[in-house]
Amino acid sequence: MRTQVAIIGAGPSGLLLGQLLHRSGIDNVILERHTGEHVLSRIRAGVIEQGAVDLINEAGVGARMQREGLIHDGTQICFAGERHRIDFRALTGAGVMVYGQTEITRDLMDGRAASGQSTVYEAQDVSLHDFAGEKPRVRYRNDGKETEVACDFIAGCDGFHGVSRQSVPRDSIRNYERVYPFGWLGLLSDTPPVSEELIYIHHPSGFALCSMRSHARSRYYLQCSLAEQVEDWPDERFWHELRLRLDREAQERLVTGPSIEKSIAPLRSFVAEPMRFGRMFLAGDAAHIVPPTGAKGLNLAASDVWYLSRALIEFYREKSTAGLDQYSDRALARIWKAERFSWWMTMLLHTFPDSSEFDRKVQLAELDYLVKSRAAATALAENYVGLPY
Ligand code: FAD
Ligand code: DHB
Repeated sequence: MRTQVAIIGAGPSGLLLGQLLHRSGIDNVILERHTGEHVLSRIRAGVIEQGAVDLINEAGVGARMQREGLIHDGTQICFAGERHRIDFRALTGAGVMVYGQTEITRDLMDGRAASGQSTVYEAQDVSLHDFAGEKPRVRYRNDGKETEVACDFIAGCDGFHGVSRQSVPRDSIRNYERVYPFGWLGLLSDTPPVSEELIYIHHPSGFALCSMRSHARSRYYLQCSLAEQVEDWPDERFWHELRLRLDREAQERLVTGPSIEKSIAPLRSFVAEPMRFGRMFLAGDAAHIVPPTGAKGLNLAASDVWYLSRALIEFYREKSTAGLDQYSDRALARIWKAERFSWWMTMLLHTFPDSSEFDRKVQLAELDYLVKSRAAATALAENYVGLPY
């Protein structure tokens, strides 16, 4: 088999890249380890920046998001039992789109099916070869049959645990990492959201987040210990603990119901440098992870795909390698800004097991400064709504 770009992974990064390349006449094959249903079953991000919205529209799959997505012009921060609003629109002129990663993935899958480009689900033992040279190849097994794909370029869009980053010789890559001493327990339910806007809550018992997928579907998160398992959290315990962390008005408005999904995610900051190895490029979670507090994971994946798709289109149209040569530096400049913001939001809002009384007082003073200072609120709003690509 031969293609121009072999894409590893059919998460949002791989599907979006495939769609943008296809629309520019660049042939591509996507190899995905799991089934499509499995990819759709993972409940993850919900806040989409304007840059990512524009890219999804450009990929030709934005119609449902434009119809069903919710535009949010601000967010709420709650601490010491009081809620404060950060008005994104007034401070930056922009808002964000609330629309689930699952729905984006579904829209991208539908677009992919209509494009006629090849996607191999349940591709086993994917391996990457000769990407340091001119003729890279990818091999995989499917239905007991071995296949080799010859290509011009490989895009490693296979997430944090993928094979692409692991295929790079150890002395050619440097990893930067910070692991946080807690996780997020997420619950999805068909209940109306407790508030019109997201609420980020700092509470002595731990961080909580009230988010949503629609006016009838809520997504809530609780900071939890890494020792805990989903089985330790029957729905009643979750709702009880969430209610404790809410302000009085939200406590009264909270509507509970059976969970549709519950899962625990560890929190991590991670960056691999560089993101290009000859004719192989990393994009999205394959190259970097942010803790979810700043809602940046999916948005960073989209910005990588923007830079990489532009660079590949330029290569095929103009025979120029300028964009490919600059890809890693351009993407990393943006990634480190999002890493800083996500780390800062995480430190600001969570409860740390080893923090002193002094640390907790400073944390409250910083929250107070944030909601009282226009400059501090603007800095948060600018980072949250996202920089232009
Ligand atoms: P992924 O979505 O991880 O997709 C990679 C794909 O590659 C997967 O489908 C995987 O099956 C496939 N793959 C892996 N290995 C191989 C292989 N060897 N061969 C072939 N295919 C392979 N972001 C937010 O903004 N807000 C959130 O609330 C949030 N919550 C999250 C919760 C969890 C548990 C996780 C893991 C992430 C969360 N994120 C969140 C981050 C966000 O979901 C990711 O940034 C986004 O999914 C990145 O997309 P991606 O396509 O780069 O990677
Ligand atoms: C959601 C997740 C986040 O990490 C975040 O900061 C905001 C919203 C969500 O899943 O809706």
